[in-house]
Amino acid sequence: MSLTTPAARRDQSYHLHPATNLRTVQKEGPLVITRGDGVYVYDDEGRRYLEGMAGLWCASLGFSERRLAEAAYRQMCELPFYHSFAGKVPAIATELAERLIRIAPAGMGKVLFANSGSEANDTAIKLAWYVNNALGRPQKKKIISRKRAYHGVTIATASLTGLAFAHDDFDLPIERILHTDCPHYYRSAQPGETEEAFAARLAANLEQLILREGPDTVAAFFAEPVMGAGGVIVPPATYFDRIQPILRKYDILFVADEVICGFGRTGNMFGSQTFNLQPDMMTVAKALSAGYLPISATLVSNPIYDILVAQSDKLGIFGHGYTYSSHPVPAAVALEALRIYEERDIVAAVRRVGPRLQAAIRGYGAHPLIGEARGIGLIAAVELVRDKATRQSFEPKAGVAAHLVRRAQHHGAILRNMPGDIVAFSPPLIINDAEIDEMMACFGKALDETWSMVKEKGLA
Ligand SMILES: Cc1ncc(COP(=O)(O)O)c(C=O)c1O
Repeated sequence: MSLTTPAARRDQSYHLHPATNLRTVQKEGPLVITRGDGVYVYDDEGRRYLEGMAGLWCASLGFSERRLAEAAYRQMCELPFYHSFAGKVPAIATELAERLIRIAPAGMGKVLFANSGSEANDTAIKLAWYVNNALGRPQKKKIISRKRAYHGVTIATASLTGLAFAHDDFDLPIERILHTDCPHYYRSAQPGETEEAFAARLAANLEQLILREGPDTVAAFFAEPVMGAGGVIVPPATYFDRIQPILRKYDILFVADEVICGFGRTGNMFGSQTFNLQPDMMTVAKALSAGYLPISATLVSNPIYDILVAQSDKLGIFGHGYTYSSHPVPAAVALEALRIYEERDIVAAVRRVGPRLQAAIRGYGAHPLIGEARGIGLIAAVELVRDKATRQSFEPKAGVAAHLVRRAQHHGAILRNMPGDIVAFSPPLIINDAEIDEMMACFGKALDETWSMVKEKGLA
């Protein structure tokens, strides 16, 4: 195991890890990854792992796409840095913006770049506030997110995130952020309720929340088309069809967080297309550059853009943007990634192999440990339960999904466990049938071993 290697010990001495149990990593050391090849990564002892999460849902083209490396190198030689402040622009950023708008859902008009998904969402929050001030509605500022959403970890986006770990002891969420229901049919539907009736009930709850708060105080609603880090929650039938008219009725901006769903993951270029969303703003990151360099973007509709332009007449400047907004090197890599998605028809690839993953996941649905198997395209999850009939969960402290993920890693596949004993799958979009079978075989062994552990310890 990696726990005792020199590289792991060195890391323990110097590195503070994000999103990690720091005590565990102190005791056990990290898994040190040294190189990648296709859908595989290798540790410092040469052991190979199928990366079933594409890293953090991002390495859509796997770990050895030379065209991306070459695009970065060429751009580094040509123009390693420039910015888009104060009337300048690196040419490559224009090209990327144009290409993004060309493939984005109808209605998106302009692109503002940043470095991470959190920053893109933070920007969207700021724009919602700014636009309402511009429109003379200074009280229309509340933002509605959803329980179990994940929108990032800056002060404002961690507040949007509807997961306890992002708030606990950080003095979050901040004011003016509200959380409505999570659209998880398996967990939250009432007995006998259809998906459509469940969706209608959640939409009614959203409307009540808006009315309670006062529609003239609510600026925007944020949603991931498929919730990712909250547990891979695919919305129930008609959910967004019911939600969107309510937002329009009360003049509330709809921000689609496409940070995970964007660029093919759900079987369309964007999750907004899969679920027929008409957002006013859209955020993208991760697969925008196939994860090879940090870059994100907030896409806005032309009506929003026009308001921003008018504000410059009043304020003299649009006072937002980062040193590395429009950085030419990640822009070049992103542009090349978008070219590859088009040339290789990444959407068709997901539609070809996605059903194999979904069938395999659902094939485990009868297993006594699995309460629900769910997903769409190349994103999926299983939810482990203590009692299949009552859907009762395990004690979080028992760490059942964490155990499964450790066993899967032992067998050669990297998966991810999430609160609620959920195990997620989000492999590189270049994965083929044989590799899906291999990933699922590792999962199957780990599942059986976890079942044995659960029985031995009397947890079920
Ligand atoms: C849907 C979604 N939005 C936003 C973010 C935040 O992105 P970043 O970690 O790049 O700040 C993530 C990260 O996983 C995400 O999954």
